Amino acid sequence: MCGIIGIVGKEQVADRLVDGLRRMEYRGYDSAGVCTVEGGQLIRRRAEGKLGNLVIELARNPAQGLIGIAHTRWATHGAPTTSNAHPHATEQVALVHNGIIENFKPLREALTARGRKFESETDTEVVAHLVSEQVEAGLSPQDAVKAVLPQLRGAFALAIAFRAHDDMLIGARLGSPLVVGYGEGETYLGSDALALAPLTQRITYLEEGDWVVITREGAQIFDTDNNEVTRPIVASGATAAAIEKGNYRHFMQKEIFEQPVVVAQTLRSYLRRVEQTVALPQIDFDLASINRVTIVACGTSFYAAMVAKYWFEQFARLPVDIDVASEFRYRDPVLEEGGLSLFISQSGETADTLAALRHCKAAGQTIAVVVNVPTSTMAREADLLLPTHAGPEIGVASTKAFTCQLAVLAALAAHLAVKRGRMNRAEEAAIVEHLVEVPAALNAALAHDEEIAAMAHLIAPARDVLYLGRGADYPLALEGALKLKEISYIHAEGYASGEMKHGPIALIDELVPVIVLAPSGPLFEKTVSNMQEVRARGGKVVLISDAEGIAEAGEGCLATIEMPKVHPLIAPLVYAVPVQLLAYHVAVAKGTDVDQPRNLAKSVTVE
Ligand code: M6R
Repeated sequence: MCGIIGIVGKEQVADRLVDGLRRMEYRGYDSAGVCTVEGGQLIRRRAEGKLGNLVIELARNPAQGLIGIAHTRWATHGAPTTSNAHPHATEQVALVHNGIIENFKPLREALTARGRKFESETDTEVVAHLVSEQVEAGLSPQDAVKAVLPQLRGAFALAIAFRAHDDMLIGARLGSPLVVGYGEGETYLGSDALALAPLTQRITYLEEGDWVVITREGAQIFDTDNNEVTRPIVASGATAAAIEKGNYRHFMQKEIFEQPVVVAQTLRSYLRRVEQTVALPQIDFDLASINRVTIVACGTSFYAAMVAKYWFEQFARLPVDIDVASEFRYRDPVLEEGGLSLFISQSGETADTLAALRHCKAAGQTIAVVVNVPTSTMAREADLLLPTHAGPEIGVASTKAFTCQLAVLAALAAHLAVKRGRMNRAEEAAIVEHLVEVPAALNAALAHDEEIAAMAHLIAPARDVLYLGRGADYPLALEGALKLKEISYIHAEGYASGEMKHGPIALIDELVPVIVLAPSGPLFEKTVSNMQEVRARGGKVVLISDAEGIAEAGEGCLATIEMPKVHPLIAPLVYAVPVQLLAYHVAVAKGTDVDQPRNLAKSVTVE
């Protein structure tokens, strides 16, 4: 999604603004721009496509100035062209925006009727005109913004520069995140702490409805009612190093290989190794009293929710409803009085999930969240925060955040089971031991990297690929298909193995590889039968299983990938690795943009 940075500085800002945009490239974008203020002028440079194009434009037409704003745009209203790129500007005002102005149409009509001329198809440009009108009427920048913000419906983070003021910027947030950073004689605005990482570690997270005036001396923050407020300054902890690739070719590859460490890190905060118990943060809510839990998420985080449903039901005998966030809120879900709703999100900012969270909160539910960004909006609005410790995830395709989510959810399943009297001490100790084995098992799975790279050419030419899995590995089939689609642009679908014969089998021929995820175990025989159904129709099977499974059913497969033999509880974490690696190597073989696949945004902050 769009990335915003603003600097009120004591040195030239253009290069530093572009640098900040580079750190937000991972969010996904299709055009970029900067605007500086110098000598009573707004100096604006924009380019469609990658940041390199903006750099070329700035080399041709430099933008001088000690103050400026910049933006990477992920198109919502209007094609990804230069004229739709931010900043949007009038004579008086330039601004950048993340989010959607839902009522832009009537606002645009009214502005047009008042004689304002628009140069873009965006929703954002109306805000530039609205602020401009107020400034032209003689209002100060502060009063102009104060007059305009209540007119806007939707979600926004804004950074606004004024032609006649080379000493201040104004920022505002509602629904989309915005942070203030404090430097030595400089102050910054950014979509996240990572954008500001090399500039400062001293950060304020603006709250919903806040707006802020930043100058070289610092920041003045106001709430929705325009009362001046104090928000805490915290150490961001975001380092520039955390968003570098090191020796890896892509962030996604680095993040796949980080999994043993970050999953261990995550588990460390949920397991008491000596006592062999699961420990959760304190909560003022009796988890034993829950009769039902509702889990809501999007994309890969939703597949983590699907796995959790198997675990919560199996171990804790707790009924679970799951839904994708974009559907959940609008189907008028039945929420039990005093129940628990759980939201899973890497970013903690996904607009659909956040809207669902707020819906549940308003309905009186206790809100638990599994999030990777502890300063995110979801983390701040939750009653129970269950953090994953995956570190910044930059690759658009989620990998390490997913396995860390599963680690937390497995611990939560065991905790609920204990609380509900469904798991005794010995069983809890056994679960803890299995979870402790996860990092080693992930390492064993990663050891197949080269072998998987070598088989990528078998999948890369395919137009369609199917993934099959059973039980808690069924969501892994969905996840494998999502990963492949996202970064290699090959059409892929995941199915429950037993569902294959009810329709998808019609697609099978020798050109459609079928990836089967099937650890040996009680249901293995059934999956083998489904594999035979595929093979009987000329289908080519890649079997991902353990040594036992491969010995039993590997013969005649197009390829096999051997996973370590693990307890069924931890299988979904381990089997995530080969599907991630397969998608990664197929994408590399196809030469796609692995870390910033077309059309995708890392954190989707629009509904
Ligand atoms: O930040 P979130 O976990 O809430 O994001 C949810 C989805 O947008 C995300 O998982 C998306 O599907 C990824 N690109 C998957 O790789």
